[in-house]
Amino acid sequence: MYLARAVRCPPHLRATYVEISNYFRGRQLGRLSALQAHSPPVRSFHEFSEKHRSNVTSSEFLDKFKQSMEFPQTPLDIDTLYSHDHEGQSVLLHGYLDKRDDMGKELSFARFYDHTMGRTIQLLSNSQSNTLPQLKKISRGSPVVVRGTVKRRVTKTAEEERTDYLEIALESIQPLNEFPREIVLFGKNIVHPPKHRHLQLRSDKELRDALRFRAQARNVCRETLEQLKPAFVEIETPLLFKSTPEGAREFIVPTRKKGKAYALPQSPQQYKQILMASGIPRYFQFARCFRDEDLRADRQPEFTQLDLEMAFAAGQDVMAVVEELIRGLWGNMMPEPVPSGLFRRMTYQEAMTRYGSDKPDTRHGMEIHRVEHLLPADLVSKITPLTDPIVEAFKMDTVEQLPSATREFVSRFFDSTEGEPFNKNPDGAPGIFIYDEGQPLKGLGPLGFEAAEKIQEMLDLSHGDLLILQARPQAPFAGGATQLGSIRRAMAAASIAEDLREAPPGFEFLWIVDFPLFSPTDASEPGQGGTAGLSATHHPFTAPKTSSDVDLLSQDPTKALADHYDLVVNGVELGGGSRRIHCALTQNYIFKEILKMPKERIDEFQHLLNALWAGCPPHAGFALGFDRLITVMLGKESVRDVIAFPKIGKKGEDAMVKAPGKISEEVARLYNIKLK
Ligand code: AMO
Repeated sequence: MYLARAVRCPPHLRATYVEISNYFRGRQLGRLSALQAHSPPVRSFHEFSEKHRSNVTSSEFLDKFKQSMEFPQTPLDIDTLYSHDHEGQSVLLHGYLDKRDDMGKELSFARFYDHTMGRTIQLLSNSQSNTLPQLKKISRGSPVVVRGTVKRRVTKTAEEERTDYLEIALESIQPLNEFPREIVLFGKNIVHPPKHRHLQLRSDKELRDALRFRAQARNVCRETLEQLKPAFVEIETPLLFKSTPEGAREFIVPTRKKGKAYALPQSPQQYKQILMASGIPRYFQFARCFRDEDLRADRQPEFTQLDLEMAFAAGQDVMAVVEELIRGLWGNMMPEPVPSGLFRRMTYQEAMTRYGSDKPDTRHGMEIHRVEHLLPADLVSKITPLTDPIVEAFKMDTVEQLPSATREFVSRFFDSTEGEPFNKNPDGAPGIFIYDEGQPLKGLGPLGFEAAEKIQEMLDLSHGDLLILQARPQAPFAGGATQLGSIRRAMAAASIAEDLREAPPGFEFLWIVDFPLFSPTDASEPGQGGTAGLSATHHPFTAPKTSSDVDLLSQDPTKALADHYDLVVNGVELGGGSRRIHCALTQNYIFKEILKMPKERIDEFQHLLNALWAGCPPHAGFALGFDRLITVMLGKESVRDVIAFPKIGKKGEDAMVKAPGKISEEVARLYNIKLK
């Protein structure tokens, strides 16, 4: 009984499976869907249609519109009311009417959000001001202009006495538009669908705060880079670019010129290198980038990079600037600054060996160890069809140290949409053991006495620990993760989500360095279209790390290391960069002799070769994934939580505006496109 089946839990424990698998499904779709999975959303009537107001004549709504065009300016906000003594003064506020409580025919209290939607204040309407009839006509959520006198009010709690002790005795209230009574903005179980992003934003302060935080972070980055000596210069580069085999799948923009199209840039990489050849010493840009790839929690087809490049610089110089940038951000915007000292560095080889990932979350521990030399040969042949495989293992401890709880967790995990595919690995399913002092050989029986003892000692297993084994072929590491690395990552996240383990605190920044310059071509990625079976690991402009790596180009390019560095924090690849090849002949050699790209593909880089050829200085750069950076800083689950209008679904749609849209026959004709 070696494989995962051995730990399937009894049927009575499965009552919660639907919930759990919904949870995992929800996690994949993001926070919103997770909520939907748990509690059916209450849908309110949202859509505009002129039919819904068929009883209103055009002269009526045009009159109302005219009245709303004129309204007084220079409003105050509630924070200012509290921070300066405005008691007894008449004030003007713009904002939104909230809930109203009528206390009889002549007295009413209403809450009011100021225009920042940050906090509310009480409005008091009574017979003296004669504002009640007007107030009653205005629906909750409508934008209004309020004029009134600031007064102290009777408070009921200490919290009210601290933050909510003022009210406004209403003198007038002017509606500026109507919020339909059919729309329920707030409430338990109210979930606004992505097509009503405006309601998601309006009802979710956290979401709006994230956008504000993002804007502030941008300012901090800009200030840091502009203060450095020599200063970085912000330069915009074109969005209408052309198709080149840089590495990612592009979006094409048809034009009216027959057979001609622009491509949106996957990054400003080539333009920024050309700037280095153009006498610009240091460049930066908040760059919109476009990649036609499937969506994930940390991926959007349209995203933002803080992109930078430095002339007369190598990788080390860029890494120092990036560390300063991160320190500035954390120092200015986060509760704890980043500890002093250089960020830790780890080679790609070490990261893959110890964590099975090129972006490891080192805070979890759960290190991977080679164990095939400890296992009996007949056991190895049972767990994998591979001959002479590598077998690796990691352990995961739990807070409760209860074998039964670990067993239930594992069973749920491998039944979930996230965990199930791991069982279908052609190299063999993972071997799962629960260290249980109440069991013969502590639950490690299938390993055999000797291996059980050695593995127990090697991994320091204790009661309730989970042990996972996985085979893989004897081959150099390639790509971003091994299968066991992916299991480790998914299990760490799932066990924390289920409170089996505590979330590790803090931020562990890590430079991953010494990537291989080239990787075997992955059929699912466009690569550079060469015939060598190799693609650039970062992009084809990345320089070899040392002069011996240059020598390896002609001997065995698969062994050459790159001056490529990725910045990783808590398991997230925040950014990546490299030193570039600044010599045209060397760049051409990489295209032609190493990657074996066809001539017409190399010609697509002629502009870059021209720039390098014209005495381009050595240069290096980096791009910080700005959406990911904000997501990490705010501890959010997905980049969607920090983007005003994110794309959703696997294909990257904007459900609100319904993009991408269908092409009409007329547009197709104009752009010389043949519709199938
Ligand atoms: P790279 O392709 O590694 O490097 O991208 C840099 C960083 O951009 C972020 N990122 C993304 N964020 C959201 N959605 C996506 N689809 C997405 N793809 C990438 C990641 C990543 O680390 N031109 C080089 C940089 C350089 O060499 O200077 C580049 O684009 O955080």
